[in-house]
Amino acid sequence: MSSSATTTEPGPGGALPAAAKQLPTGPEKVKAVRQMFDAIAGRYELVNGIVSLGMDRGWRHRCVDALELPVGSVVLDVACGTGDLCRELDRRLLRPVGVDLSNGMLAHARSPGPLVHGDALFSPFRAAAFDGAVSGFALRNVTDLDILFVELARVTRPGGRISLLDLAEPEAQFLRLGHRLWTNYAVPLVGSALSGSAAYRYLPRSFAYLPPASRVVELLEQAGFAAVEHELLSGGISQLYIATRKHEAGTQ
Ligand SMILES: C[S@@+](CC[C@H](N)C(=O)[O-])C[C@H]1O[C@@H](n2cnc3c(N)ncnc32)[C@H](O)[C@@H]1O
Repeated sequence: MSSSATTTEPGPGGALPAAAKQLPTGPEKVKAVRQMFDAIAGRYELVNGIVSLGMDRGWRHRCVDALELPVGSVVLDVACGTGDLCRELDRRLLRPVGVDLSNGMLAHARSPGPLVHGDALFSPFRAAAFDGAVSGFALRNVTDLDILFVELARVTRPGGRISLLDLAEPEAQFLRLGHRLWTNYAVPLVGSALSGSAAYRYLPRSFAYLPPASRVVELLEQAGFAAVEHELLSGGISQLYIATRKHEAGTQ
């Protein structure tokens, strides 16, 4: 399928906060994100493990646990990258299908399930094709959360579950300071040393793309999800949105 995106929304959750004004949006963001992940794909998992101090393992476990879906359920991994969450789904005897924009990430992917090259905002899947969906660190990287959530509601069957993992900035002042030092200085340093790429400078800046949790919850509800929960992990350095697909538009 085609992987072009043409959204003109100013930011992934509507208007961008001031801190994100210098960041690319719309088709420019799609291009930048795809180029960046193509460039870092080869060492993506290694760098991820190091810069998260190994914590990404636990976050992925929790993400898949939170689905609470029966064995054999078919689950879409949105922006699957190199397939880390696909493999986690498989370990829980769920059946993953991955979709990603970046050919580079897909070329390095290891997954027991099918992988599709394409834009998750305009996916080729039929309505209600999946029992559930997950995403790992994708919310900051898409151009429009509203479109993503409407698309997720379309492809998830009524009663199906979604679990969306991303990074976050901790609220507690002390943790926030340490987190800023780590993401602003250590992450770009480790990233460029191991990937030979300046792409990791994008990570600290990309936090500005994320709307507040209350807005994300509102967008999920508007898109057709109920029982939306927001869970903070590891002191608030990562977060999970968990929800159930409503049975009919506008009802629980
Ligand atoms: C930080 S990586 C996360 C990869 C993987 N989910 C993980 O947990 O490690 C973000 C991924 O989002 C993908 N991506 C960004 N926008 C996308 C879109 N609209 N459709 C599909 N993939 C997208 C990028 O190509 C990249 O592989």
